[in-house]
Amino acid sequence: MGRTKTVRDIDLKEKRVFVRVDFNVPLDENGRVGDNTRIVAALPTLKYLLDRQSKVILASHLGRPKGRANPKFSLRPVAEELAVQLGRPVQFARDCVGPEVEAAVAALQPGSVLLLENVRFHAGEQGNDPGFAEMLGSLAEVYVNDAFGAAHRAHASTSGIIRHVPTCACGFLIERELAFLGEKTEHPARPFVVILGGAKVSDKIMVIDRLLEKADTILIGGAMAFTFDLAQGKGIGDSLAEPDKVGLARSILEKAEEKAIRLLLPVDTVVTDRLDFAGQTVGELRVVENGIEDGWKGVDIGPRSVANYRGEVAGAGTVLWNGPMGIFEIEACSKGTFEIADAVADNVRAVSIVGGGDSAKAIRKSGNAEKVSFISTGGGASLQFLEGRELPGVASLDTLAP
Ligand code: 3PG
Repeated sequence: MGRTKTVRDIDLKEKRVFVRVDFNVPLDENGRVGDNTRIVAALPTLKYLLDRQSKVILASHLGRPKGRANPKFSLRPVAEELAVQLGRPVQFARDCVGPEVEAAVAALQPGSVLLLENVRFHAGEQGNDPGFAEMLGSLAEVYVNDAFGAAHRAHASTSGIIRHVPTCACGFLIERELAFLGEKTEHPARPFVVILGGAKVSDKIMVIDRLLEKADTILIGGAMAFTFDLAQGKGIGDSLAEPDKVGLARSILEKAEEKAIRLLLPVDTVVTDRLDFAGQTVGELRVVENGIEDGWKGVDIGPRSVANYRGEVAGAGTVLWNGPMGIFEIEACSKGTFEIADAVADNVRAVSIVGGGDSAKAIRKSGNAEKVSFISTGGGASLQFLEGRELPGVASLDTLAP
């Protein structure tokens, strides 16, 4: 199959272009955009379209309003933030389909922007209803998907719509996501070092399996490590683990050994006797090796593990990081995660890719965002893509002959 068409490959001049973006952003207590990362990430595509005098129709979901209009999930605050970022007015439509929207689209001038209301206010969005997809598609001459964060969803605005618009391509954000999470990990500069953390092995099992085909070294952190410890007969005290996934962890360890992939686990752990996540407090903290006693739980990787992992990352040609090393939301348990963030950023020779969600948050909070090669805007989407599974929001777009 050829490569997916991008906005560079199509005629956009004065066309009505429906752009699916992922503006699923957090809103603060005043109802304003709390983090504009995803809005900023869409700007290159939007500016490119506006430079070509396209009539830009933007659609997104926000939250999970369950198919009903709910002002709590309105995209109106996003229109305000987008106008600031683009430095031009952004019109806002109170719905995403219907006569009012059709009139607003018909009145659009070349080089102007209309943001539609949350597509998930209609059950047809998540149900990928053909009639709803057709209504969305009828608004435009060109469809551009740049919503990488939602590309793993086969919904009307990410997938069903593609059949109803003559020309369909991806935007620059999706192009970059596919390049970094795809090509750069498919043909990595070696050694290829992967750091995986987070709470559950079950969330990452398919990713690990796939990466065992590509990586040279896999470093494990976060609560996920405790399931591996259980598989090796180590005591984990009261730490979070998935006892029913011990068999899975064991087979990963065996597969790594068969393939001569170095899969490293923490050699020491920061433990505490009391953890109050809501109150953001912990009790006494200790560093232990060789297993954790009952009454204590692991909350971060220890200093020797940090030093080991730092060494591995420093020598890498490609680094992929997904998932925190500990409960980094609580300062006393955040050192391992932020040390890894520094290590990834410090290796300036490597191609460094940070997966979505918590690790993206950590790399930004550590002040290293500008120093890494790429930070994915997708959580579930980046995992699904790294698992080697097709993304419905990309799969049916037009392709160019190879
Ligand atoms: C995300 O934030 O991961 C995407 O916007 C997808 O949102 P969803 O999980 O509600 O589909």
